[in-house]
Amino acid sequence: MAPYPIDGKVALVTGGASGIGYAACRALAGAGARVVVADRDAAAGRRAAGELGADYVELDVTSSDAWTRAVAMVEASHGGIDIGFLNAGVDTGGAGIADLTDEAYRRIMAINVDGVVFGARALLPALARRGGGRLVATSSLAGLLPLPRDPIYTATKHAVIGLVRALAPDLAAQGITIHAVCPGLTDTPLLGGAKAVLEAAGMPLLRADDVAAAVLGCVASEETGCAWVVQAGREPVPYAFRGVPGPAGGVRPPEGFRDPAAGRG
Ligand SMILES: NC(=O)c1ccc[n+]([C@@H]2O[C@H](COP(=O)([O-])OP(=O)(O)OC[C@H]3O[C@@H](n4cnc5c(N)ncnc54)[C@H](O)[C@@H]3O)[C@@H](O)[C@H]2O)c1
Repeated sequence: MAPYPIDGKVALVTGGASGIGYAACRALAGAGARVVVADRDAAAGRRAAGELGADYVELDVTSSDAWTRAVAMVEASHGGIDIGFLNAGVDTGGAGIADLTDEAYRRIMAINVDGVVFGARALLPALARRGGGRLVATSSLAGLLPLPRDPIYTATKHAVIGLVRALAPDLAAQGITIHAVCPGLTDTPLLGGAKAVLEAAGMPLLRADDVAAAVLGCVASEETGCAWVVQAGREPVPYAFRGVPGPAGGVRPPEGFRDPAAGRG
């Protein structure tokens, strides 16, 4: 099957003003997409859009009303939306469970989980109105592995993968694919002071452009429901989930309750 053609498509990228989102905007624009940088930081978002010949829409991903407005605005100005990259995210800065304040917990859940759920809910009907499209969400290696220094970040990124895998089968019938991209440590402002520590320890960091290339791979892919592992120096690879044992006695769960990974080893 021919890869999905990006040229001429309309792509909305959350967190597009910085880091991985900015690199993805640049890569999508380079592939011919009409890019909309969506970020809550208006100054940085406008600057990024100006640099890339893209458009900017102010969007706080934690607000479902803001999502409704942003999607309507982009559909009106661009004629529709074909590709959504749900990428905006934060960490807690390493808060352990004992130190976690309610405010810090609500903030990270709102951005990393609500932001992806509200984004998928707002974008999917728009993609369907175009007869199909592509959705990619940024998880992390922390969506597949426990990150003991930030357990709540780990929880949010596991949530993104569960959402993507559960949405994928029904979306396929509408010509929509959905993937999670799971980068390892990436050289962006999110790393803050940890960057120097990691570099001193000889830890190879991904470049944001490496992750952007993986995002374009997700968009091009005809597969769906995958969690793509992105590690420094390696080609992106879909994570091979093991099937979960079913109930004893060989009872086959009804449609909608089956493990999509069952039988894949
Ligand atoms: N940097 C890494 O090592 C790494 C590794 C794996 C996954 N990730 C994930 O990649 C994604 C992008 O992170 P990054 O490293 O590029 O960080 P970054 O800090 O460079 O960029 C994040 C962007 O998101 C925007 N943003 C934050 N809250 C928002 C909100 N409520 N609404 C709209 N925009 C908002 C910020 O303004 C910023 O432009 C995040 O989901 C992060 O968890 C990062």
